[in-house]
Amino acid sequence: MQHLQKLIFDSIENSQFPNQPANLYDPIRYFLSLGGKRIRPTLTLLAADMFDIGEITDALPAAKSIEYFHNFSLVHDDVMDQAPLRRGKQTVHEKWNLSVAILSGDGLLVKAYDELANCNPGYIADLLKTFNRVAMQVCEGQQMDMDYEHADSISMEDYIEMIRLKTSVLLGGALQMGAILADASLHDQKLIYEFGEYIGIAFQLQDDVLDAYGNPETFGKQVGGDILINKKTYLLVKLMEILKEEDRNSLQNLLDSTLSGNPNKLKDMLILYQKYNIKSLADQLKESYTQLAFERLSAIDIPNDKKKALITLSNQLLIREQ
Ligand code: IPE
Ligand code: IPE
Ligand code: MG
Ligand code: MG
Ligand code: MG
Repeated sequence: MQHLQKLIFDSIENSQFPNQPANLYDPIRYFLSLGGKRIRPTLTLLAADMFDIGEITDALPAAKSIEYFHNFSLVHDDVMDQAPLRRGKQTVHEKWNLSVAILSGDGLLVKAYDELANCNPGYIADLLKTFNRVAMQVCEGQQMDMDYEHADSISMEDYIEMIRLKTSVLLGGALQMGAILADASLHDQKLIYEFGEYIGIAFQLQDDVLDAYGNPETFGKQVGGDILINKKTYLLVKLMEILKEEDRNSLQNLLDSTLSGNPNKLKDMLILYQKYNIKSLADQLKESYTQLAFERLSAIDIPNDKKKALITLSNQLLIREQ
């Protein structure tokens, strides 16, 4: 797996952008240079390898395309979530400004399509369909995420659907694109896609937990950022679902407060989460989605040793600290 990761890291590091206008290309270079885990392009390469693509470099353009799309979505997500930090550094809108974040994000999206155009022409129509399907779903999920911030409460079902769209479908799509390039059957494409979707739900549950409980030294994002903006994370949705009458007022007061009005907002929210054991409920749900994912992977009719690298990566990303 490491050689595939090196392939993708090198290839993104070597991507060239013009110098001018600097306020368009500097933020793109800056954001890409912060790296990140590059999970999604690695998934594309792993799926292509698993289904015997032959020449793995044939899957590189699709892998890069997914990573550019992901980076585009993060630059805009940081604006939408008012996030100051990403990958341990200032977000683009903080370092530059809002207009720069909008346009350099757009530029990354164009780069994503540019890479798709470099794929083997025989597969481009299928790849484009998969890419566009999941890209639009990410937008749908992101809009739901925004709308839910202002909703009084949402159901757990709504929450799961929101994270399926904003996060999971892209992991599924990344894997499916690798499978398409390796001529996998439609049945196998569906199974590997669903594997990614379930892993993606577990991944976002983990992300919600880390946002509240992550180690600021390693997390790379502002710990407690979701709590500050009353984001409807798993933690908050679950708390609202099981909260007893006696704590209703305290939660409402916390939600109505800002950090400047109540410097203890974070600490007090964590006390409520603790009282209702919310973190371990999140861990349990994450575990059940991980199981569902691995059931899908087992259903793919290829020798087990071909699935090993994918299993290793999935386990790594579900115990991540950043
Ligand atoms: C962040 O994704 C957005 C989520 C879906 C939680 P990653 O955790 O994969 O971000 P990077 O690319 O490694 O920084
Ligand atoms: C990320 O959700 C989903 C997308 C970027 C599409 P989050 O808002 O939870 O991601 P982080 O925590 O900022 O990485
Ligand atoms: Mg967000
Ligand atoms: Mg965010
Ligand atoms: Mg998050």
